[in-house]
Amino acid sequence: MTRLRILTLSGSLRRDSFNTALLREAERLGAHHHFDHFDGLGRLPHFNEDEEHPAPPAVAELRRRVQEADAVLIATPEYNASIPGTLKNALDWLSRPAEDGGPALLLKPVGVVGASPGPFGTVRAQLALRQVLHKMNARVVQQPEFLLFQAHQQFDDDGRLPDGTAPQQLLSALIDALAQLATQDQPVGAV
Ligand SMILES: Cc1cc2nc3c(=O)[nH]c(=O)nc-3n(C[C@H](O)[C@H](O)[C@H](O)COP(=O)(O)O)c2cc1C
Repeated sequence: MTRLRILTLSGSLRRDSFNTALLREAERLGAHHHFDHFDGLGRLPHFNEDEEHPAPPAVAELRRRVQEADAVLIATPEYNASIPGTLKNALDWLSRPAEDGGPALLLKPVGVVGASPGPFGTVRAQLALRQVLHKMNARVVQQPEFLLFQAHQQFDDDGRLPDGTAPQQLLSALIDALAQLATQDQPVGAV
C-alpha cells in the first residue's frame, strides 16, 4: 500500500476538541501513512488582500505543508450551522495563489470529517465546507461521509473511538477512500 503524506487540519482551537481528537484517531487508524498535523490555524492573521504579499510567515508555512502533502484531512466543528471562522480564514488564504505557484488546495485530495456533541454531527458545517472546497477546485472524498454526533459520548477515557465501533470503522474507510483518491491519476489539466 502506498505510504502517503496526509496533512491534518482541525477547525477547533479548543484544547479538548472532539475534532482534534478525531484527527488523532485518524492518525492511529492510518498508521501506515505519514501524518502531519498543522496546529497553527490560530496564528494565521485575518485574511486581508492588502497584506497578501509577501505572505505572512504562518500562511507561508501552511501553504508549504499543504503543498508537501499528498492529501489533506480536515475536521470541522459546527458553529452556528457552518464552519468556524478560523477554518474559513485558513481556506481563504489557501484559495489565493502563492507568489511562486497556484492555490495550494487546487486539485488536492481532501477528506472531510466532523464531530459535534449535538444530534446532527456537523452535517451543516460539512455541507458548508464542501461548498467552499468545491469553489476552490479541491478533489473531495464524496463517500463515505463521516459525521460524529453526540461526540461527548463516543470517545473512551483515552480519547479513542473504541475498537470495532461503527464510527471507528467508518473513519478507517474514509482514510482508505482518501488514499485511493490521492493515488488515482489526476484529472487532465492538473498542475
Ligand atoms: C459559537 C458556537 C456555535 C455553535 N454552534 C453549533 C451548531 O450550530 N451546531 C452544533 O452541532 N454545535 C454547535 N456548537 C457546539 C459545538 O459543536 C461544540 O462546542 C463542539 O465541541 C465544538 O467542537 P470541538 O469539540 O472540536 O471544539 C457551537 C459552539 C460554539 C462555541
